Amino acid sequence: MSKTQRIGIITGGGDCPGLNAVIRAVAKTCMNGGATVLGIEDGFEGFVEGRMQELTDSQVSGILSQGGTILGTSNKGDPFHYPIEGPDGKIEIIDESARLLRNYKRWGLDAIVAIGGDGTMHISSKLSDLGLNVIGVPKTIDNDLDATDVTFGYDSARFVATEAIDRLHTTGSSHHRVMVIEVMGRYAGWIALGSGLAGGADIILIPEIPFKWEAIYQKVKARSLHGKRFSIVCVAEGAKPFDGDLVVKKLDEKLTDSKRLGGIGELIGDRISEQTRLETRVTVLGHLQRGGSPTPFDRNLATRFGYVASQLVTSGKFGYMVALKGNRVESVLIKDAIAQQKLVPMTSQALHAARAVGTSFGDE
Ligand code: F6P
Repeated sequence: MSKTQRIGIITGGGDCPGLNAVIRAVAKTCMNGGATVLGIEDGFEGFVEGRMQELTDSQVSGILSQGGTILGTSNKGDPFHYPIEGPDGKIEIIDESARLLRNYKRWGLDAIVAIGGDGTMHISSKLSDLGLNVIGVPKTIDNDLDATDVTFGYDSARFVATEAIDRLHTTGSSHHRVMVIEVMGRYAGWIALGSGLAGGADIILIPEIPFKWEAIYQKVKARSLHGKRFSIVCVAEGAKPFDGDLVVKKLDEKLTDSKRLGGIGELIGDRISEQTRLETRVTVLGHLQRGGSPTPFDRNLATRFGYVASQLVTSGKFGYMVALKGNRVESVLIKDAIAQQKLVPMTSQALHAARAVGTSFGDE
């Protein structure tokens, strides 16, 4: 840690369980090596606006199991497409990367560790091109970053969704209802597949497999005819019908990705009850999947990610993102990490296992 003395940590995009565990691991490892660690507040918005604080050992102690991020975060402050709201409420998008760069220099930073998902890694890659020393750490409950076997946050979200499905099972079977649960995941079906398989959902709908309405009706009707008087449908927010499109709840230009997904669960619930006459209820799990304590798996992964990120800082290996490859945390170029999104492949063993035990994906 002799050359790089002032390290910034930033959390970007939506929060998820395990962010504090990474902050703790990076800060403690760097501080133990003699560095000063600065916490940039509220993601890239705070970086552009010049908000940060020097972190103390006591601030980063006792946070391993805490959800959220002690630094704050935002999914609105892409410095290259920075939204400025005029007095008339109109949004103008401008490039504020020069302002961010000035803060980097003003704070005397030697490197930053950027903890975030797809959007944060795209921004980190551009900042790297501008000459900033950036190390990436992949987080997201969506698990849609291709370069790592898994992102931290995913296991915790899957745990929450699985528990919710278990609970819907007992009430659904008592009342002989069709229970639809909408989970997050954006354009990837990892949370729906992971929790649907773990919770024994009868139908799992994911963005990677467009569904046929008729296949859903047939499945719940068939279960009912065979005396199984309830069904569980686990639907990813990004799932779409074969002949239709994504359901977008709202467009917000300020967001790094302007589409806020949501609503497909309600639509499916309404259609099932209309077409099958079976009593149906819909649960939208929403941000419960993002809040609260990380699972032991996520705490350990986050701590290992933070430790390896600190090692990259020490060795001056910038422009890299830490990534889990098999049983080891390694590093990959951020540029390569953002080359493609990780979607559920049709070769997925989990997918085949689910089909083998009779789960429908609404396609046949
Ligand atoms: O990317 C994580 C995620 O939770 C998605 O699964 C979801 O679509 C989105 O963020 C929700 O974002 P917001 O917190 O802005 O509602």
